Amino acid sequence: MSDDSRPSPHDGPAAARTAAVIPAAGRGVRLGPGAPKALRALGGTPMLIHAVRAMAASRAVSLVVVVAPPDGAAEVKSLLDVHALPERTDFLVVPGGRSRQESVKLGLDALPPGHDIVLVHDAARPLVPVDTVDAVIEAVREGAPAVVPALPLADTVKQVEPAGTPGEPEPVVATPERALLRAVQTPQGFDRATLVRAHETVTGDVTDDAGMVEQLGLTVVAVPGHEEAFKITRPLDLVLAEAVLARRRLNDGF
Ligand code: C5P
Repeated sequence: MSDDSRPSPHDGPAAARTAAVIPAAGRGVRLGPGAPKALRALGGTPMLIHAVRAMAASRAVSLVVVVAPPDGAAEVKSLLDVHALPERTDFLVVPGGRSRQESVKLGLDALPPGHDIVLVHDAARPLVPVDTVDAVIEAVREGAPAVVPALPLADTVKQVEPAGTPGEPEPVVATPERALLRAVQTPQGFDRATLVRAHETVTGDVTDDAGMVEQLGLTVVAVPGHEEAFKITRPLDLVLAEAVLARRRLNDGF
């Protein structure tokens, strides 16, 4: 079944239009030296193109805004031009900022009117399946102001008193109950007005957009995430991503 024939809960005339903002302006220093992380190849295709296709795979998404490295907007524009992308989706490229938060804000500022739901998706999560994207959109459509895909943790998590020097032993101060914890992924989905207000109001450092909505005192809900929506941060993550792509190609071949 092609993506176009996939039944979708978002097909009706009343369906709110969804835009996806992809912050892709980070250097990715933990991945080692080289091109900005989003432009590195995965299965021969830049990670960013995988991420853009993952958002555009949802029939609800009619616009994708890519937030490029500040000195790489032209390169990103030409990448989007040369790679096949769905015709039903529009694309915009804007230069990013110094922090992820600033980059997302610049992406939001570039959104034209008419998109009431906004997804924010890390370029560093190129392999998120379309069913996860659709589940996030659906939960926003059902009335949640903010939605995160999330998975239970395999590891027990300890809170420590961070050592001043890397490698020094760190005193453990607490062990949160693992069953109550979730590892949060992207795309995170938002009622557009709520996300805009969060970015105008919250100034402290945050590591995700839903955290800003929490700071407004609003409820954020979690829906099931997917193990293939993992974030590519370290070199080993690239090995895993190549293996996931190889398995997909094998499955598509049959
Ligand atoms: O650094 P981290 O892995 O948390 O970055 C998450 C996402 O935010 C990546 O897709 C990265 O490109 C993006 N980012 C950005 N602008 C920055 C820093 C990170 O768009 N200044």
